[in-house]
Amino acid sequence: MAADLPSTPLLTLRDVHAGYQDVEILRGIDLDLRRGETVCVVGANGAGKSTLLRTVFGMVATRRGSIRVDGVEVSREPPRARLARGVVLVPQGRCNFPRMSVEENLRMGGYTLPRRAVAAGIDRAYQTFPVLRERRGQAAGNLSGGEQQLLEMAMALMLDPTVVLIDEPSLGLSPRMRHLVFAALHGLAAHQVGVLLVEQNAVQALRVADRGLVVELGRVTKSGTGPEMLDDPDVRRAYLGLPA
Ligand SMILES: Nc1ncnc2c1ncn2[C@@H]1O[C@H](COP(=O)(O)OP(=O)(O)OP(=O)(O)O)[C@@H](O)[C@H]1O
Ligand SMILES: [Mg+2]
Repeated sequence: MAADLPSTPLLTLRDVHAGYQDVEILRGIDLDLRRGETVCVVGANGAGKSTLLRTVFGMVATRRGSIRVDGVEVSREPPRARLARGVVLVPQGRCNFPRMSVEENLRMGGYTLPRRAVAAGIDRAYQTFPVLRERRGQAAGNLSGGEQQLLEMAMALMLDPTVVLIDEPSLGLSPRMRHLVFAALHGLAAHQVGVLLVEQNAVQALRVADRGLVVELGRVTKSGTGPEMLDDPDVRRAYLGLPA
């Protein structure tokens, strides 16, 4: 959890605008993420949560405003450059290389790393997600949807990132696998990684998050600690499916 925070946030967004063609989706997002902190973004379907993560990673262009990583302006940099700064995006959905084995996929995740770091990363992935070790030789496309999701996350973690942007990591997972994912996210925070998390299962996510944000109409309209968000009557009613 976020004790002893250093003063410079790992990731800072100020007045970030972004969108697609002539539609503006993000309309002035402000956000800070510190080392060791998990921030959970809550919002309606179509609010722009995935767009926010894609914009931080550089897959969607920043039209106005500033994105800083460790104090450095990155909003004009391509994803590859942001990756080199330790920013990874774990997108929602299935794995990228379905015909390759699980272990080959993990190697792909670490293709920019020296060989020894790849071996260490694969070891770490298998420790975190033992099911991937059991399936190491199997074609990734034959894994269950949930297992593919774990593989996506494990591939991103191969790079030993400092900022993890993760979109709906528990979608379609069994309770046991969901627990693995949240435990892994918790472990990242313990290693001083900043995690920006979008999650349908917001109750569980806010329990592991240090802070939560509500995004509405392209802006942050509410923010608070995890427990504050879980207690907020409006948040409970609108986003958590809980009585107010
Ligand atoms: N590639 C794209 N081109 C054009 N419009 C897009 C594109 N991707 C998303 N949009 C639109 O941008 C808006 C925000 O989409 P986004 O995927 O960011 O929402 P979200 O908050 O992640 O929703 P959900 O909870 O359903 O995942 C939506 O209206 C969507 O239709
Ligand atoms: Mg989304």
